[in-house]
Amino acid sequence: MTGGEELKRVAVIAGDGIGPEVISEAVRTLELASAIFSLELSFTHFDWGAEKYLQTGVTLPEGALEMLSNEYDAILAGAFGDPRVPDNKHAADILLGMRFGLDLYINLRPIKLLDERLCPLKDRAPADVDFVVFRENTEGMYVFVGGNFKKSSADEIAVQEEINTRKGVERIITAAFEYARANGRKKVTMSDKSNVLTYGHDLWQRTFKEVASRYGEIEADHLYVDVLAMWMILDPGRFDVIVTNNLFGDIITDLGAALQGGLGMAASGNIHPGRVSLFEPVHGSAPQFAGKNVSNPIASCLTAAMMLDYLGMREAARAIEGAVEKAVALGETTKDVSGDLSTTQAGEAIRRHLRATK
Ligand code: IPM
Ligand code: MN
Repeated sequence: MTGGEELKRVAVIAGDGIGPEVISEAVRTLELASAIFSLELSFTHFDWGAEKYLQTGVTLPEGALEMLSNEYDAILAGAFGDPRVPDNKHAADILLGMRFGLDLYINLRPIKLLDERLCPLKDRAPADVDFVVFRENTEGMYVFVGGNFKKSSADEIAVQEEINTRKGVERIITAAFEYARANGRKKVTMSDKSNVLTYGHDLWQRTFKEVASRYGEIEADHLYVDVLAMWMILDPGRFDVIVTNNLFGDIITDLGAALQGGLGMAASGNIHPGRVSLFEPVHGSAPQFAGKNVSNPIASCLTAAMMLDYLGMREAARAIEGAVEKAVALGETTKDVSGDLSTTQAGEAIRRHLRATK
């Protein structure tokens, strides 16, 4: 081992559609960062995804969660979703299976504009779009609690429950405040729909007030989610840290991705501090682009940087981010962000700038 670094073991699950192409660029970039910064990183690839499911019926293999928690420090995932599996059962089993099964309660999604030209809003500079979303990731509307009564009849009733637990709400709100404190962020905005969801989201209200009182130096702000969506467009600069439930977090982070230049730019981490955590680009498997070498590798490279950051390899993480910023500034990007490069060329451009950092 070099540089006093400890070996970090990364499980790579490229998944479906464009997943393998963008993950391949991310892994190459990580390998280069490893060489430059003398990191000790190992990569083990797993073929979990639609193809394996169609061939074997296996989604998340038996014992997978135990193996991941015992043998790995981080998981780098691509995307899951395939038209041959219309209900996306494998995606739910694998992705939500890891989020829930590994108790990855923080879905951290930074919304950062790297270049003015990428923002769909008028006259917005990078300084105006720079906040992070803490999306609750283990409960809310994602618990599959509910059922049908008189299914497929004219009298059908469908019930889908939202679960909000005191512990679950408290730990995500606390994580948002801790992040704000550690990163010099001045404000935490909690978003809910407590004017209508008077039980579940009232729990968010009460918990937010209590947790906020422990962080006197950080402004505690609240917006109903409909109003928040409006302000994300009208004045994204008013946000620092947003904390919200699973479903609202899902929706507003696609909106946030649009502010950054689209899904091809958006990174995320599914985190349980101190445990094996999962890093994935926000975008899906985009099957229509699979195998065409056109997908944007920036989201997966920024996701790789988030993973390094989580693993304590901060210098290398910053260097990858810096290399991405340079590539974007020079227009060395794929078509979705107004460049004319292929996936592999855009990845190579990032690595060329990375090589120049040290
Ligand atoms: C996301 C995705 C997932 C979600 C889907 C694929 C289940 O949209 O990571 O944002 O809803 O969480
Ligand atoms: Mn989503």
